[in-house]
Order: sequence, then C-alpha cells, then structure tokens
Amino acid sequence: MTDPLRLGIAGLGTVGTGVVKIVQRQAALLQARSGRAVQISAVSARTRDKDRGVRLGGYAWEDDPVALATRDDVDVFVELMGGSDGPAKAATEAALAAGKDVVTANKAMLAVHGQALAETAEAAGQVLRFEAAVAGGIPVVKALTEGLAGNEITRVMGVMNGTCNYILTRMEATGQGYNALFEEADKLGYLEADPNLDVGGIDAGHKLALLASIAFGTQVSFDNVQLEGIQRIEIADIEQARDMGYRIKLLGVAQMTGRGLEQRMQPCLVPADSPLGQLEGGTNMVVLEGDSVEQIVLRGPGAGEGPTASAVMSDVMDIARGIRLATFGQPAAGLQPATPANSAVPAPYYIRTQLFDKPGALAKVATALGESGVSIDRMRQYGHDEPTAPVLFVTHKTTKEALDAAMDGMAQCDVVDGTPVAIRIEAV
Ligand code: NAP
Ligand code: HSE
Repeated sequence: MTDPLRLGIAGLGTVGTGVVKIVQRQAALLQARSGRAVQISAVSARTRDKDRGVRLGGYAWEDDPVALATRDDVDVFVELMGGSDGPAKAATEAALAAGKDVVTANKAMLAVHGQALAETAEAAGQVLRFEAAVAGGIPVVKALTEGLAGNEITRVMGVMNGTCNYILTRMEATGQGYNALFEEADKLGYLEADPNLDVGGIDAGHKLALLASIAFGTQVSFDNVQLEGIQRIEIADIEQARDMGYRIKLLGVAQMTGRGLEQRMQPCLVPADSPLGQLEGGTNMVVLEGDSVEQIVLRGPGAGEGPTASAVMSDVMDIARGIRLATFGQPAAGLQPATPANSAVPAPYYIRTQLFDKPGALAKVATALGESGVSIDRMRQYGHDEPTAPVLFVTHKTTKEALDAAMDGMAQCDVVDGTPVAIRIEAV
C-alpha cells in the first residue's frame, strides 16, 4: 500500500482552517482519487489556544513554522501565513532545504521571491505550487500551465481583486461614493490588513505578475507592473461610463508586444455587455487568449475559506498523485528576465473635464487635444452645474504619451475647472 501523504500546515486562519476541514471531511474522496491517504501531521499558528472552529486535537503543534516545515513526519509544507518575507519565506526556504514539497497561497511572497524559490525547489527535485495564490477558487494556474500548454499565449486579462470589484459595483448600484463603499467593505471584513494592497491594486498586481510569468515564459516581474488603484474613481465616472455603455473595472492586462512585456493593473472602461463588464461583487474573472484556443473565460470566487482551500487542495492532490510540475510551467532556471514594454499598446480613452461655461471653452479644450495628436471620437456635455458643466470625450486610439501631453495641455487651459480625469478603454 502507498504511504500516506503527510501535511504540515502553517497558518490556521481563513485558508488554513478551510484546508483542515477539507482534509477531515473528504478523507475518503482524497484517498480514492490519489490512491493514498492525505493526512495532517502538524500545524502551526501564532496563538495556540484560539478557538478556530476545527478539530486540531490529533495533530502535533509547533509554535515555530520553521520547526514545522522541517519535521520528519511532514512531506508537504503548506504555507498559509502570508507576508512576502518574515516567517513565510523563512519556513518555505527551510522546508525546501529539508527536502519537502511546498504548497502556498502567498502571492505577495511569490511575486517578490518566486523566481529564487522556484529555482531552489527545482534544483533539489522538490515542487513549489501556488494555485490558491491567484484568483482564489478559480483553477487558473492549472488552466494556463496544463490546459493551454500547447498554446502561444497572446493575452491574459482579469479582474483579480474581489474587494475592488465589490466597491466598484456597489458604487454603481447604490450611487454612493468611494469612501462610503470602502467603509462598507471594511465592515464586511473584505479588506486586507493593509487595505492599500487591495484598493491600490498591489494584490491584483502580484497575481497578474505570476500569471504573466507562466504565460510568457519570463521571470516574475512585479516591479514592472504599471499599478494604479481605484481610489480616484468618482461616482460621476461610474455613472457616465454606464451612460456610454461601459463599466469600470480594476483590470489587469499582460501581453507580449514587440517592445517587451506589458503588464498593467489599472481602472479601465470595458463594454458593459462583455463578460468582464457583467462581473458583479467580489467575484473574479480571468480571460486567457491563445493562438489555438482563441479565448477562454474563467469566472468564480476569488477569495474565502472554501474556494481558496479548494485551490490549495488541488496542488496537494497533484503531489499525492505524483504529478510534479515546474512552478511556472517550465523549468525556472530557463525563464528569461522580462524586458518591460515602456509604454502601453494604444487605446481609446475616456476623458472627463469640468468646463467653465463661456464662449470658446470647448474649442480651447479640443485644441489642446488636437495639438497633442489626440483625435476625438465622441463628446457629450451634461447639465450645467453653474458656473461649470461636465464634458466628456471618448478619444480614438492614442498612445499614453500623447494622452498625457493632452491632459497637461487641458489642465493649463483657463477654461478647465480642476484636474481632468482620463481612464483607458480596454478592448476585451
Ligand atoms: P489569516 O486569516 O490572517 O491567517 C493567517 C494565519 O497565519 C493565522 O492563523 C496566524 O496565526 C498565522 N500566522 C501569522 N503569522 C504567523 C507566524 N509568525 N507564525 C505562525 N503562524 C502565523 O490569513 P488568510 O486569509 O488565511 O491568508 C493566508 C494566505 O492565503 C495569505 O498568503 C493570503 O494572501 C492567501 N490568500 C488568502 C485568501 C483569502 O480569501 N483569505 C485568498 C487567496 C489567498 P493566528 O491565527 O494565531 O493569528
Ligand atoms: N484581498 C483579495 C481580494 C483576496 O479582495 O480579492 C485574496 O486574494
């Protein structure tokens, strides 16, 4: 009979307790599917006597996650503590050095140290897997690494932060501003301990960088993700975008261009009737495009106990079945450093300005756009809000450089009140 696969779980919070519950509840199913029992040998967390709503009595306890990671009765170290450095990194390194396989949900650690950790793991014949780190319960790492292994990937897109999508869709549904919905998300416990990870686009940027590495065979390059959060989105933008047939999403896009790897995580307008445009609440969606498959859309819960633990168990089950894939879909030592594209592929933009209502105001703004080479596709003026009126433009495709020059030109016009807002319109 095959030996059981023995887990050591560090971190018994939302995800860790979810994993314990699956191992306990689905023991027979896991054994039937992998041909061996999947068991927990030992666990670790900061506070031993916390009631976590799960039975932990049969497992050894370690205060120190490094000690847990190196125990003789642990085959797979399951890292569910979080944090890019500190105990998560120390224990992962210790586990690999001790010959253990590692499963983690920690996108922050992998976005920064993923290349080095994967090289260490693979050099020693160990595996390091991270399905749960990207888009929670959606098996997107598997889809890219295995399902689309025969495709040249042309583009990866997605809404990968549920908190931001919750805030944006609630702004639209309730007509309330960003600050009120941020408070609501906070009360519901949706925000990370450092909320800027969510609303600043950093968490979603980590996830995009991990997918881009698999998709384009490049080393993880989080520093080259162009990041912009949702903090500056106003209810006026949400409503006016909707009026023109769009919705605003914190959208990640990664694509290989002639100028290098483009990775962007920023608020974008997407057509309201597209799959991404119809995404509500905390749900995630990832769109993968390949030369043969064309486009596939994956939608599902991006966070939470059950969905994230489900993804952790997908990696655990691969190891139980003897499936030993490279962390990023090909040997880490062969991944090339990404050459960052210095500018984004041209796109149309939505521009919102507040103009003083006086003769020639529109002409001055149109001149600022024209002088920067930005062509107007559509224009709309809304009801007066004395002494100014909101005026919207949708441009033809333009470069970001031309757009920035036009925005500077507009800001200097004496007919513009405040700072104009520009948001990219993405073809999805
Ligand atoms: P969490 O609820 O905050 O739980 C973290 C756990 O780690 C807690 O049990 C904590 O112990 C333990 N811990 C923290 N520092 C420790 C240390 N120095 N030594 C030992 N244990 C320590 O976090 P989570 O939401 O489960 O997230 C875990 C990981 O999954 C993170 O990398 C996160 O980014 C990732 N993830 C989470 C979700 C989600 O929906 N929550 C989704 C995708 C990915 P105490 O309980 O004693 O404080
Ligand atoms: N904070 C993340 C989100 C959940 O809102 O999607 C974990 O990835």
